[in-house]
Amino acid sequence: MTYRVLISDPLSEDGIYPLRQAEGFEITIDTEHTPEELAAKIAPYHALVVRSQTQVTREIIESAKNLRIIARAGVGVDNIDLDAATEQGIIVVNAPDGNTNSAAEHTMAMIMALARKIPQAFNSLKNQIWDRKSFIGVELKNKTLGVIGLGRIGAEVAARAKGQRMSVIAYDPFLTEDKAKKLGIRCGSVEDIIKAADFITVHTPLMKETKHLLNKEAFAMMKDGVQIINCARGGIIDEDALYDAIVEGKVAGAALDVFETEPFVDHKLLTLPEVIATPHLGASTIEAQESVAIDVSKDIVNFLNGGSVRNPVNLPSLSKEALAKVEPFFDLVDKLGVFVSRLAEGVIEEINIYYSGELAESDVRPLTRNTVKGILKRNLGHHVNDVNARFLAERFGIKVNEHKSTTPKGFSNLITVETTTEKGVRSVAGTLLNGLGARIVRVDNNLVDVKPAGHLLFIKHIDQPGAIGRVGTLLAKENINIATMQVGRSTVGGNAIMMLTVDNQVNEENVEHLKMLEDIFDAIPIDL
Ligand code: NAD
Ligand code: MLT
Repeated sequence: MTYRVLISDPLSEDGIYPLRQAEGFEITIDTEHTPEELAAKIAPYHALVVRSQTQVTREIIESAKNLRIIARAGVGVDNIDLDAATEQGIIVVNAPDGNTNSAAEHTMAMIMALARKIPQAFNSLKNQIWDRKSFIGVELKNKTLGVIGLGRIGAEVAARAKGQRMSVIAYDPFLTEDKAKKLGIRCGSVEDIIKAADFITVHTPLMKETKHLLNKEAFAMMKDGVQIINCARGGIIDEDALYDAIVEGKVAGAALDVFETEPFVDHKLLTLPEVIATPHLGASTIEAQESVAIDVSKDIVNFLNGGSVRNPVNLPSLSKEALAKVEPFFDLVDKLGVFVSRLAEGVIEEINIYYSGELAESDVRPLTRNTVKGILKRNLGHHVNDVNARFLAERFGIKVNEHKSTTPKGFSNLITVETTTEKGVRSVAGTLLNGLGARIVRVDNNLVDVKPAGHLLFIKHIDQPGAIGRVGTLLAKENINIATMQVGRSTVGGNAIMMLTVDNQVNEENVEHLKMLEDIFDAIPIDL
């Protein structure tokens, strides 16, 4: 199998070395296209790598018939339609750590350039004007820097600003007084920052909640002469309101690396001498570009070769250790899901998954996704995977509930998967046995011991002499060899089950013949 990878924004050549040297990977670099052109050419590719330039639209994603992974060589994923990717079962990964240092350094460079008007002075000198009066700056020492968003980059900026002897006040929904104290900064609300800061720098993602966070009302509350920095995302600051605040003299200067619409070349803000700007260069260093490209290249190779990824964006991420605890159960839960979906009659309304024993102490979300995937596979085939399983269940109105109990239920780990339809509840339970591998140990209320592999046949019958023999004779006549058989019953002469493993697939015709036999009232073939 050859995996085709399309790189649609410029990336570090050294950084994509892991992709270049991976066996069975074919790399295409094609960085010139409109979204429509990309939609037209995306179909053969299994992986798409972008920076912030390519807009990965729903149209592109829906045209990407073979796409399994979109990798963002950087942090922000606002240029990717995440909902569309999740719906199509495409995993999105990013490289959140590789450019933190570069973005923080760029922010500091912008703050210093802004404070000392370096770009304006240089521009004047380039025009052969020796002007020492127009470019009087301010010191950073003893000034207050307001940091909105104290994540990776915000925290690095705060630490560097302290080195400049600035006093730092920050707001982040996850910043506690305690943490702020340890960092040697103050913790405040956005309003506290707006009112107190001499310089305000934003480091949040662009989301509904942060769109135009700095707007007309916010500028009105700021100190006169405040200076504004945005090296995060265009749109966090309302550009029109910023323009007005500068023209009115409220804001003394602004340093911008990112803009509401990029490329940003013809905007009234660029006509103001108080504004300095760079064309989205925060992460543009040799080190950052190499680092993010290496991170996403490794994730693509691992993922397409069946492994896990380090930085999933549309799946909850698990540490290596947490993943190691649940990974051995992936195949079992998928099969329990397939099995129970074959038993369920009618429309599934609810799925309950019970984890008991040691497993209940682990983060079982990946197991729940894989179970739901197994259940939905019956109707959705390869359209469902662990990325979109929960989304699709929700779309179909199926409630998915996880239950955990550390009390062992006869096995050190037991997973019971239960479906509810209008016709009733069906369930299958399985475990991993030391040295023996996966086993299905219960079907509804019947104890069994079956390897979840190959062709299974689940039969419901009345416990009467001859019923087992009739099944054996019919299967022999239809050339289906029985490998193993187990029987169980609730009461003598009452309802009973047969659990068979057979060497060939049991088809619809075989099932009809089985159901016509005396005392046999159901036969369900399950291929695992
Ligand atoms: P991060 O996820 O580590 O940090 C973002 C922080 O924002 C989080 O701590 C989060 O809690 C906080 N936040 C969310 N909503 C908030 C709100 N309403 N108010 C205040 N804080 C809020 O991300 P990061 O790696 O530090 O990146 C920060 C930003 O910088 C992102 O927008 C990213 O895309 C951008 N970025 C830009 C460049 C560039 O080239 N200019 C480079 C790298 C990153
Ligand atoms: C990011 O979010 O990582 C930055 O926008 C850097 C980039 O890729 O240009």
